[in-house]
Amino acid sequence: MTDPLLIRVLNGEIASPPPAWLMRQAGRYLPEYRALRETSKGFVDYCLTPELATEATLQPMRRFADLDAAILFADILLIPFAAGAGVRFVAGEGPVMNPVASIAEIEALTWNAVAESLAPVSETVRRVRAALPADKALIGFAGAPWTVATYMIGGGKDPNRWAARTLAWKDPAAVDLLLTRLVDATVSYLVSQAEAGAQVLQIFDSWAEQLPAPLFDRVVVRPTRAIVDGVRAAGVAAPILGFPRGCGHLADVYARETGVTALALDMSQADAELVRRLPAAMPVQGGFDPALLAAGGAAMADEVSRLLTVADGRPYVFNLGHGVSPDIPIDHVAELLAIVKDR
Ligand code: CP3
Repeated sequence: MTDPLLIRVLNGEIASPPPAWLMRQAGRYLPEYRALRETSKGFVDYCLTPELATEATLQPMRRFADLDAAILFADILLIPFAAGAGVRFVAGEGPVMNPVASIAEIEALTWNAVAESLAPVSETVRRVRAALPADKALIGFAGAPWTVATYMIGGGKDPNRWAARTLAWKDPAAVDLLLTRLVDATVSYLVSQAEAGAQVLQIFDSWAEQLPAPLFDRVVVRPTRAIVDGVRAAGVAAPILGFPRGCGHLADVYARETGVTALALDMSQADAELVRRLPAAMPVQGGFDPALLAAGGAAMADEVSRLLTVADGRPYVFNLGHGVSPDIPIDHVAELLAIVKDR
């Protein structure tokens, strides 16, 4: 049997039309998601109940036949939740947790309990894979250590990641320890997702922005490299997508030095000159502005054409440059996918 289109493209095939999926394709813009969410006690509970998480993963697949992949319904903050950081999602406020700032506080977390408390996620992966048609890929994911650390150091909201960036300079040993603990937890989490049936793994580094090059190397590149090496050492061959959001032209360093298979671009990185400098033939993904998806209209088709030009002969996966937001009209999503698939 041939692999799903997304896997073939991440392994180097050039496809026209390209495979398509959307970051945050499951979520609050879907009425069926909001209805299901009301049946759970809280967001973390929702993610850790395989029956609900399986259903949430499959909802966008039922609605949009043009999607080539499902992404596991979970959250990047499940690792700090499982480590006992007190993660909760407060309506209107976003994620909140107990801040960590010292080696003692980092060592006091229950890192050894993470794998067991996240076992329900593997069960979700097994159920989704069993329910998905063979031509649709299943994507597993985790947050990158730096992005997860910014939430843990900031206690949730941390405008401009000020607390995390300050601590990275002030107490490098504490931040490096936190990143090391997160690397270890993330490697086993991703390996268990792959063993349960995830065929692609994406690493979300949503806060890779605003870092000077030496700090970018220390907190983004090295920990990501350690994850890729750890996952490969465990025998997992699945393509790995890296998403270093907001890091501008440092995406080139990231692409060369982390070992990821493919690079997910944000809006400003979806630029011909930046893409040309990436390692030869490395597949790229994404770049479409979610605000244009909110706006809708004829400009969507022009931007899809532009992105195909930016990819310039490389394997390309259609996606957004950041996630779908709750205010996006469902009709615009269907229209956008039709545009992508019609050419
Ligand atoms: O559809 C998918 O993409 C799969 C599921 C997914 C979620 N979060 C579900 C979710 C994925 C891949 C994520 C990743 C994630 N989570 C990131 C990286 C991507 C990005 O957007 O940059 C980050 C930074 C988080 C942390 C997080 N989780 C935040 C900031 C929030 C928003 C809090 C709020 O109330 O607005 C969440 C919650 C969250 N994760 C929701 C969903 C569907 C909404 C929660 C709800 O239903 O109340």
